[in-house]
Amino acid sequence: MMRSASKAKTTLRAARTPATHARAPKLDPRISAAEKFLLPTYKRGPFVLTHGRGCYVYDSTGKKYLDFLGGIAVNALGHAHPRIVKVIRREAARAIHFSNLYHNAFQGPLAQKLSQWSGMDRVFFSNSGSEAIEGALKLARLYGRNPADFPSSAALKHRILAMDNSFHGRTFGAVSVTSTEKYRLPFAPLLPGIEFVRFNDVDDLESKFDNSVCAVLIEPIQGEGGIHPVTEEFWNRARDLATQHDSLLIADEIQCGLGRTGRNFGYQKFRSKPDIVVIAKPLAAGLPLGAILASNAVAEHISPGLHGSTFGGGPLVCATALEFLNIVENSKLLENVRARGAELREGLSALADKFDFIREIRGEGLIIGVELSVEGAPFVAEALNQGLLINCTHDFTLRLLPPFIVTRAQVREFLKTFELVLASTSKAASSSAPKKSEHSPHLARSAAK
Ligand SMILES: Cc1ncc(COP(=O)(O)O)c(C=O)c1O
Repeated sequence: MMRSASKAKTTLRAARTPATHARAPKLDPRISAAEKFLLPTYKRGPFVLTHGRGCYVYDSTGKKYLDFLGGIAVNALGHAHPRIVKVIRREAARAIHFSNLYHNAFQGPLAQKLSQWSGMDRVFFSNSGSEAIEGALKLARLYGRNPADFPSSAALKHRILAMDNSFHGRTFGAVSVTSTEKYRLPFAPLLPGIEFVRFNDVDDLESKFDNSVCAVLIEPIQGEGGIHPVTEEFWNRARDLATQHDSLLIADEIQCGLGRTGRNFGYQKFRSKPDIVVIAKPLAAGLPLGAILASNAVAEHISPGLHGSTFGGGPLVCATALEFLNIVENSKLLENVRARGAELREGLSALADKFDFIREIRGEGLIIGVELSVEGAPFVAEALNQGLLINCTHDFTLRLLPPFIVTRAQVREFLKTFELVLASTSKAASSSAPKKSEHSPHLARSAAK
């Protein structure tokens, strides 16, 4: 345990306790409660985050962190955005929840706005990304079923093609389409009928596609997998094959969607559209809300009673999500995402010239991966120490997902501190360097540094 590792991370209360006898600093009771009573699903450092403002967060000792992780792509407007705070205050005092048995004032208008953003026709609201993925998989199976057989369990089209190196969440359906073995194997047997395709490998996709496929599921930028964009060739071929075999192309935009690439959606840089888009993370600016966006051709397969959710799409979360989308539009945040993202990548490329253990910079807008030839975890720990929040995914890729409101000065501040982090961690890190072939060997590299 890392409990008493750092004096700076003990609480003010613990630090002010009179030293009657020499003993280890008292652990913050909130941390001891968490460690004793929570399921141990996350490894957390010995400090408590208490509040945030804009792109900064603070812990209970008053230490300030520049937040370049944004709650893993959730806090696109940073923390305590005044318009978000205002709408939550106003609507919480009016209605937090009714029921999906009734219309509320915000669900329809939010669905309409999402339809305008995406070019999809119909929306279903969920509470998380995983739950939206579950719904999308159910829609795909419904689509593949011959209506004449309904409700028999026989379905000609039942196979779902998912990608190697994918991540789609933690529920049973979502782990079934997630390729990483450590997330899957402990829970086997998983959903039947799922097959994995090598990401960006058109030949592999073609060899696995036939009329038994009801859907192919792609993250336009693989997030958890290390920020790997899909190639245009692969995307277009998936679209063509899905059309040819009357199956669905599903885009998981949970991490890369809703403005993070500098476009509304990652897939919008391609000529062709998916049939289903799945979103969540930043949608309600930190409140839990996900959604499935679908074409009319998909939507006509569903009818009342086939799917539902108690909490999904309540008035408070939908009002907040509408405000989020309005802020992105009114404050011209997509332009900021593109401009700050370009500055960030330029600065990172300059650092890649200085530090030879940086292998590649990938991504676009404000979803950026810095792939190292050494383990990333020590860099994340040192960044924390120096007041930066980032994380590491797939062991070797540092992941940056700053808020859309990040300023030019904050990008400069990040780059300056990040350089110090790279310099002070590199000696230890380079001594444990694996051979280049030891990780992500199967991936088609997208943007070399
Ligand atoms: C691409 C992608 N899909 C699905 C999910 C699952 O979303 P949630 O954690 O909201 O269930 C995530 C979460 O990180 C994700 O990045």
